[in-house]
This record gives sequence, structure tokens and C-alpha cells, in this order.
Amino acid sequence: MNVLVLHGPNLNLLGEREPAVYGTKTLKDVDAEVRARAKALGMRVRCFQSNHEGALIDLLHAHRKWADGCVFNPGAYSHYSYALRDAVASCRVPTIEVHLSDIKKREAFRRVSVVAPACVAQVTGKGVGSYLEGLELLARRATSRPRRG
Ligand code: DQA
Repeated sequence: MNVLVLHGPNLNLLGEREPAVYGTKTLKDVDAEVRARAKALGMRVRCFQSNHEGALIDLLHAHRKWADGCVFNPGAYSHYSYALRDAVASCRVPTIEVHLSDIKKREAFRRVSVVAPACVAQVTGKGVGSYLEGLELLARRATSRPRRG
């Protein structure tokens, strides 16, 4: 199973960015844990980060035929990017939206995700564990459903 892992804006600064909210692990640490779990689950992963909405859309488009699943942290774009929501819906790659923090318990503007309705599930508030659970959900889905035609 091929899995695309996408990190949105400001996640390149993990480790130094608001550690009380996002923890002290760097993006490199997160990707290392993601790669290790993916390997254990027999998945191939490609991890990317971008601060740019259009670049994230391009990555989704470019991997739409390669990826059997996607774990996506759209960062703040989650809360207002209809373009990213449409990209997820257009690519038809089962996508798990993940967040390190618990967006439901933070500022009002974070409580809504406009990307979530295009995703098959959302995992929030578990730090890097949100990404790992995203991988697990994709693995479970793949074994319980026939592949897309
Ligand atoms: C985030 C939550 C978003 O609200 C925020 O804008 C981020 C990080 C998270 O992983 O908790 O950049 O996506």
C-alpha cells in the first residue's frame, strides 16, 4: 500500500513552534516515526511539507494515481481552504485528516475543518500519534475493503 503523508504550513517549524501546543518533536522526528510505523505496516510512504496551498494541491494531484491513501495535516488551511477540500475530493484518494493538537478544544476558528467532509476520518490531539493512527486506519480500511478500480 502506498501512502502519501502531507504536512501543511508552519509544520516545518515543529520543535520550535509553540512547543506547549505542538510538542518538542521536529518534523524530521515526526517523519521518522511515520516511516517506521509505515514500514511495520508494510506500507510505502512519501512525506512532504509545504507552506503553500497550491503546492499541497499539486502534490495531491501528482500522487493521485500512486497513493492508495493519504495522511494529511493541512495546518491552518484546514479551517478555510475550500481549494484543498476540493483537491482531496477530486483525487479520490482515501484521506485521513490529522492534527497534532486537539482543534476541538482550541480557539473557535479552529473547531471547524472545511477539509474534513472530503476525508474518510479525522484524528486530532494525539501529537505524532495522530499520524500513526491515521496510518493504522488506512491499513485497516485496506484489509476490510476491496481496492479501488
Ligand atoms: C494543526 C492545527 C491547526 O489549527 C494549526 O493551524 C496548525 C497545526 C495541528 O496539527 O494541530 O498549523 O494542524
